[in-house]
Amino acid sequence: MGDGVLYIRPFMSTPKRYYIETYGCQMNVADAELMGGVLRREGHVRVDDPAEAEVVIVNTCAIRDHAEQRVIGRIGQLNRHKLERGGVRLGVAGCVAKELGKELLELAHVDFVIGPDGYRHLPEVLERVDTGERVVLDRFNRSENYEDLEPYRLERGAAWITIMRGCDKFCSYCIVPFTRGREKCRSAAGILEEVRRAVDDGAKEVTLLGQNVNSYCAGEWEFPDLLAAVARVEGLGRVRFTTSHPWDFTQRLVDTIAADPVICRHVHLPVQSGSDRVLAAMRREHTVAWYRERVAMLRESIPDCAISTDVIVGFPGETEDDFQATLELMSEVRYNSAYVFIYSPRPHTPAAALIEDHISHDVAVDRLERLNEIQRGIGARYLLDKVGTIQGVLVQGEARRGEGRMSGWTEQRETVVLDGGPELTGQILPVRVTGLSGITLHGEVVGHATSAVMELPLLAIS
Ligand code: SAH
Ligand code: SF4
Ligand code: F3S
Repeated sequence: MGDGVLYIRPFMSTPKRYYIETYGCQMNVADAELMGGVLRREGHVRVDDPAEAEVVIVNTCAIRDHAEQRVIGRIGQLNRHKLERGGVRLGVAGCVAKELGKELLELAHVDFVIGPDGYRHLPEVLERVDTGERVVLDRFNRSENYEDLEPYRLERGAAWITIMRGCDKFCSYCIVPFTRGREKCRSAAGILEEVRRAVDDGAKEVTLLGQNVNSYCAGEWEFPDLLAAVARVEGLGRVRFTTSHPWDFTQRLVDTIAADPVICRHVHLPVQSGSDRVLAAMRREHTVAWYRERVAMLRESIPDCAISTDVIVGFPGETEDDFQATLELMSEVRYNSAYVFIYSPRPHTPAAALIEDHISHDVAVDRLERLNEIQRGIGARYLLDKVGTIQGVLVQGEARRGEGRMSGWTEQRETVVLDGGPELTGQILPVRVTGLSGITLHGEVVGHATSAVMELPLLAIS
């Protein structure tokens, strides 16, 4: 490509309209944007409706059996549309693609199956599909970090930035190490460059993503170093990160969060269980005491830091006493939010062999409801305490219901609905919280976004 010469890459396959439907975690959302970037570079065009698309991709999640069955049902449905319309290529991406591989070809008339390490090759895959081939690309690639690929972001104000892929923890219940492979970290330079580009394109907030984000390590760079460097990127208003593992959660990380107001005071720190016996069977690496220490470290240095968590109930062998210990831990920590899941046996995982310790579905549902009930009270109290305070809100777009209303989120990721027009989109504004309905805060803008970081009053104003 010489100076001044316009180089146009010939299309490998004719440009098509593509539609990607994403399930699962934020890593999958980020991967959908990555696939979008790869496809757009080849001239393909994104559409929001599968009925208008020539390429339909279901980007799947395998974390629990229910999630998997749901996407399999959806693939069947889209397959029927495909057969009715003709000329449509149907593909499966994400974790179920990796888990089931070529089995998916038998499940529906799927044209291609592409695992989480194969997205760079989407154009060749489509080209091969054009010639009538059915393609399965589900191998792991230890060196694939998509460093050089530009995602096609669907949101302006907030950007997902994947900093590491895969997981080395092998918790005994979890399929992720088998669908995403071993941990691999991107270079700090590449990540910082991507953050700068996102900010240039209008992002005020970035979320650093990894299944185990705080175990990030690349050369001299550990996670706190990277976080601090991202927070210093000119023009960035907020950085958040997810998901943190308690084992890799250090005082240095806490100090890093405390030192820079650009870093959100919100940490998602999954505990899974409040019982050491269950944690050991889950192979979580941490004990309850270790976890309590991490919470104490956070609360000591950053008293206003919100902590959210994930919990699994009905793990094989979980007794009522084990469960009570989880209830107690939740009452003690007072999470701002908690996601409670019923244990689901997954292929390849050691816990799936613990059949004789199976907990009945009714008992598991009962435990789920009891935890949710306690958490509902704690969460509601936490939100009510925000009424009357001033919060920084990143305005995201028009509220779903009600004209002339916008919606955005706080530093702790709570949704806020406020009066205003689309001109507010993409700004972080000071908002007085005036009320609460369900889990949605209501508020009014009380000032301008003068700089990326606002100094917010610490005291509630009533
Ligand atoms: N890497 C993150 C999150 C992984 S998946 C972490 O370690 O915390 C998100 C959540 O799904 C997990 O935190 C866990 O609570 C839940 N989960 C994972 N496997 C599960 C299974 N087999 N059954 C039920 N819940 C599961
Ligand atoms: Fe799964 Fe455990 Fe890895 Fe989280 S840390 S992704 S729960 S194996
Ligand atoms: Fe699901 Fe895969 Fe994420 S199993 S939770 S989409 S890593």
